[in-house]
Amino acid sequence: MDNIDALRTEWLERVAAAGDAAALEQVRVAALGRKGRLTELLKGLGAMGLEERRAAGPALNGLKDAVQAAILARQGVLERQAQGVRLAAERVDVTLPVEYRAEGRIHPISQVTDEIVAIFGDMGFTVAEGPEIEDDFHNFSALNIPPEHPARQEHDTFYFAPHADGHRMLLRTHTSPVQIRTMMRHAPPHRIIAPGRTYRSDSDITHTPMFHQVEGLVIDKVTHMGHLKGCLIEFLHAFFELPDVPVRFRPSYFPFTEPSAEVDIGCSRKGGELKIGAGDGWLEILGCGMVHPNVLLNCGVDPGIYQGFAFGMGVERVAMLKYGIPDLRTFYESDLRWLRHYGFAALDQPSTQGGLAR
Ligand code: DAH
Repeated sequence: MDNIDALRTEWLERVAAAGDAAALEQVRVAALGRKGRLTELLKGLGAMGLEERRAAGPALNGLKDAVQAAILARQGVLERQAQGVRLAAERVDVTLPVEYRAEGRIHPISQVTDEIVAIFGDMGFTVAEGPEIEDDFHNFSALNIPPEHPARQEHDTFYFAPHADGHRMLLRTHTSPVQIRTMMRHAPPHRIIAPGRTYRSDSDITHTPMFHQVEGLVIDKVTHMGHLKGCLIEFLHAFFELPDVPVRFRPSYFPFTEPSAEVDIGCSRKGGELKIGAGDGWLEILGCGMVHPNVLLNCGVDPGIYQGFAFGMGVERVAMLKYGIPDLRTFYESDLRWLRHYGFAALDQPSTQGGLAR
């Protein structure tokens, strides 16, 4: 029994002295492992006589339980100690200055709008804006789209509830009303572009109820189709960063321009892959024309003195083409993975010399 007491004292001391998990494990193996000291003693019970075993058995098993319990308790203490050390080491010093990281990304719509504005800015255009909630006059009538005009049906307009006098406001279906506001507010000449949100009750793979357009308007004393073509060809070459992309003007119809044209750029679709540049295909990119004399008259501009041209394009469409974004709807799903992939770093500056300066 003295022997047992001495063993108990010895092993409990060794357990208490273990300074970390590895040392404690060594003690455990030395005491209770397959060839451990206490294991060996317990094995020895089999060789004893009955009397001897009766006395030694419970004592040895008691010793083993006590050492096991001590090891477990010590393990808990050591774990708490280690955690305390780790927490102290990992303490955050909230007084340290923050490391600056530009986490935000610029949405492709903002980026492309900036690029368009920068290119026309270099050509002497200024940015004009107008309200997104418009009236019938600015969105339709003044643009030579009278109430019974079939173009109204094509616009799928969102209307607000009518006022007491019957007139109802609407969400502008295009940025063209900014032309009207510009001409009614200021005297010519004009050279503006108007980027902004537009709305139509339409939703499928190629339409979202809210989308963006950039409108352009030039009014001066001598302005003709040649200016219109030169201006837009220059823009398309700069925007797509392809100085020799073919540009085609195709006769078309818009109520607010006469003559009107749609503008296509060359592309190839070899192997199902769309590539902008010379090729055997064409892609429609924008609408344009010489401002209709009725529009000038509606705004108090004398068509005998002033003429001009206008154009309009969809920002999503040109963004998709320039940056290879396949699905229009993803622009507005607010998926961060999408934005990290297609978004632009805050310091990407639009420039007209060879595209983005990085
Ligand atoms: N407003 C037209 C649309 O939303 C786009 C447009 C075409 C604007 C020709 C123009 C233009 O100024 O001249 O479809």
